[in-house]
Amino acid sequence: MQYKKHKPIPISIPISDSPIVFCSVIATFCHESRHHQTSAPKQTPLSVNIGKMAVNSLVKSLVGNRTLTFGCNGNANVDINQFEELVLALKEALGPSSGLTSDDVDVKQLTQLMLDYKSNEKEWSRFAMGDASRGYTRNLVDEGNGKSNLLVLVWSPGKGSPIHDHGNAHCLMKILRGNLTETRYAFPDENSEGEEPMRVISERTHRENEVAYMADELGVHRVWNQGSDFAVSLHLYTPPNVARGGCHIFNPETGKKSHVKKCGNYSAYGRLLKEE
Ligand SMILES: [Fe+2]
Repeated sequence: MQYKKHKPIPISIPISDSPIVFCSVIATFCHESRHHQTSAPKQTPLSVNIGKMAVNSLVKSLVGNRTLTFGCNGNANVDINQFEELVLALKEALGPSSGLTSDDVDVKQLTQLMLDYKSNEKEWSRFAMGDASRGYTRNLVDEGNGKSNLLVLVWSPGKGSPIHDHGNAHCLMKILRGNLTETRYAFPDENSEGEEPMRVISERTHRENEVAYMADELGVHRVWNQGSDFAVSLHLYTPPNVARGGCHIFNPETGKKSHVKKCGNYSAYGRLLKEE
């Protein structure tokens, strides 16, 4: 017998802090519901495929005894936007006291959260506003209670950023689409009288779903898109020093730096911003 697909059914489930108990409740509910609506045999096995992050989110959503809506159609399919989950997880990882200075940030934990997310364009596309006339656009996703800046950057084909520093902040970059090439340079010698080309430390291409870390102690860098289509990346800056105080950009031929007061955003929370 082919089972009918059912519309999502609103139910209330008792609060539980155990994902296993919670999944078991969902499985039992779907099984019973399917039996009553399709005359399917009760012993029909039912699998519940829910990722770890989704389970955590679902358990959290039960706090306050709210009603949860989901559908039963052979599997218990729970449609969770994993990108939104990542945004929340990053904010949570920064916590109530961390992120205010550069020293109390657990970069490993933040990196792992970014690595765990598998890019799905449908989940982040509303933030990714590109503009081929610019090297790249900065699209604000979240400000992490004022402790960070989370941005989706859309890189125009064949273009990129100038060489820049990071205002004594941590920068994590996850590639959401395409490839991005990163060229790192040594900080120019501030005491040097003359002008000389900047020294390249390394160059590598980051591919979709990879995560890269950058900070001033590693030098300065430029990022560019060598591809023929737009590339997209997710950037976490903590603390949000560059958004507040700007950054420096560097001339690769002379090593001379100049201060950029503010790196403006092209859009915020999925809405295009007016030109400043
Ligand atoms: Fe950067």
